[in-house]
Amino acid sequence: MSYPYKIGSKEAYQAAWKRSVEDPEGFWADVAGNFDWKKRWDKVLDWNFTEPNVKWFVGGKLNVTENCLDRHLVERGDEAAIIWEPNNPKEQYRTLSYTELHAEVCRFANVLKNNGVRKGDRVCIYMGMVPELAIAVLACARIGAIHSVIFGGFSAKSIADRLVDAQAEYIVTADGAYRGAKDIPLKSVIDDALDQVDIVKKVIVLLRTKTPVSMIKNRDVWWADEMARADAACPAEVMDAEDPLFILYTSGSTGKPKGVVHSSGGYMVYAAYSFVNVFQYEPAQIHFCTADIGWITGHSYIVYGPLCAGATVMMFEGIPTWPDAGRFWDIVDKHKVNILYTAPTAIRSLMAYGTEWVDKHDLSSLRILGSVGEPINEEAWHWFDKHVGKGKCPIVDTWWQTETGGIMISNLAGVTPAKPSFATLPLPGVQPVLMDEKGNEIEGNDVSGNLCIKFPWPSIIRTTYGDHERCRANYFAAYPNYYFTGDGCYMDVDGNYRITGRVDDVLNVSGHRIGTAEVENAINMHEGVVESAVVGYPHDLKGQGIYAYVIHDNTHDEELTRQDILQTVARIIGPIAKPDKIQFVKGLPKTRSGKIMRRILRKIAEGDMSNMGDTTTLLDPQVVDDIKEGKL
Ligand code: WT7
Repeated sequence: MSYPYKIGSKEAYQAAWKRSVEDPEGFWADVAGNFDWKKRWDKVLDWNFTEPNVKWFVGGKLNVTENCLDRHLVERGDEAAIIWEPNNPKEQYRTLSYTELHAEVCRFANVLKNNGVRKGDRVCIYMGMVPELAIAVLACARIGAIHSVIFGGFSAKSIADRLVDAQAEYIVTADGAYRGAKDIPLKSVIDDALDQVDIVKKVIVLLRTKTPVSMIKNRDVWWADEMARADAACPAEVMDAEDPLFILYTSGSTGKPKGVVHSSGGYMVYAAYSFVNVFQYEPAQIHFCTADIGWITGHSYIVYGPLCAGATVMMFEGIPTWPDAGRFWDIVDKHKVNILYTAPTAIRSLMAYGTEWVDKHDLSSLRILGSVGEPINEEAWHWFDKHVGKGKCPIVDTWWQTETGGIMISNLAGVTPAKPSFATLPLPGVQPVLMDEKGNEIEGNDVSGNLCIKFPWPSIIRTTYGDHERCRANYFAAYPNYYFTGDGCYMDVDGNYRITGRVDDVLNVSGHRIGTAEVENAINMHEGVVESAVVGYPHDLKGQGIYAYVIHDNTHDEELTRQDILQTVARIIGPIAKPDKIQFVKGLPKTRSGKIMRRILRKIAEGDMSNMGDTTTLLDPQVVDDIKEGKL
């Protein structure tokens, strides 16, 4: 397989970027021409950022799975599409060739159909990192059903909310999932969710952990039984380029997660294009992205991008620290991994165990390293470079978001220069700008501002499911005619971008996005809690930790209440949203109009007690001193 859209030199990068700005439609038509379309598009792009309404490859018809699977069958059918490494290193690993993956996807697509799933229906997928998760995702795409993958760490309540929001009538899950030393009872969590929701017609359950489950008659069916009676052949549904491919829920500044909707044509083109270019992918290389398919990184760089490029992906069920802190390096060594794409939080946690774990393994197969999810601190960058890459592997620091569908700002491995803690330059086709408070573009270099994108790219968010106004208000209202990312950014003298973190009320905890309002809502549900305010603070391993200020009615034991609140948050959202610190306070710093001044709470959580700024607008400035005194 060759990639005519691959940019292989610094000069080619500059030329491609220039062309993508001067003639975006010509640029993207050339890229998109390298994929299999059942009907070519009539028009490359139709757009405005006011409604917003963005359509790419208008009138084009395709099926994404034909690009991910069918077109590789003749030339590389026997080559590995997925190499799957189980949680327990003693269990046998599995390899699925393109031919085998295609067969499994087609058969499972028929299972979905046999159970009533039709084009356009929403299917919720709640599974661990097993090959069947990728199979279920692709089977949905095969028949034009819209998948909504929910990360295995979310609670029953979170699942119930997402099922209702998406009006999803079908679920694919497993009895359980292995993650390190733990077994997660997935089906039982689904059962709890289904006690709260009555729209679900069928639940397809994969046997993985042999955890006892309650299978409800006429509703729950076993994956294996259904596969045994399904047909092998499943023609790919003809999809419009703009038909939704999937929904993925992510947190925003309000209490309710939003369903980010991605398209079929544009998303696919951008996922493959960015994969090949950022990682400078060469056929037959083994690409190991350590993210979970429950997040956008797994969607774009385990499933859609690599498979579309005919790549071999490594898929890992477990966690980096089990059975020991050498697990990633063991996998790299065992399977001769060439590209390793991981998160700063994982690097920092492994750093803490010392270099002996890395040094034990042969990492000479590695060619390229990647980072995603949060700003990577220089210390972690250098450790990754020195101890993992042995100073020989280019590191790509990739900035992007659930809403952007693919990597937006990053160096291209070995082609454009890296700079520690800088995402560096936009991919050709991406037009970032920094904005000042007045809403004007900031010209020149060595400047800071809010990061916006001024022109559409093929995998831009199309809508927030069921509520288009929310999409407009969230991303296209702060700066009229721009897409606003929610991130702050610095640009150095050479024009390199450094993302400095969110400027809205969104936290980034171990690369997971969590809204402060969501955590507050969960805390407030606990009995005895009068009010709460949640902010982020710098955390050595997680990047950001969650600091909760809580007013409670004082009738219960404080330590027990603290534990109860953690339990409540885990129940309402999931364990990932549990506050790292809970400080009980008598009052919160509020303006006369009742708005909580989070700026002050953030400073105290950071341990910076010096200059609280202007506190004269506070209703009761005394609360600030009280909170400072009680700081944890
Ligand atoms: C937010 C998006 C994109 C996949 C994983 C997270 C932060 C992401 C970087 C990076 C600095 C980064 C931003 C962004 N972020 N990558 N390389 N450098 N910050 O997806 O959950 O949608 O979160 O993650 O703040 O807005 P997400």
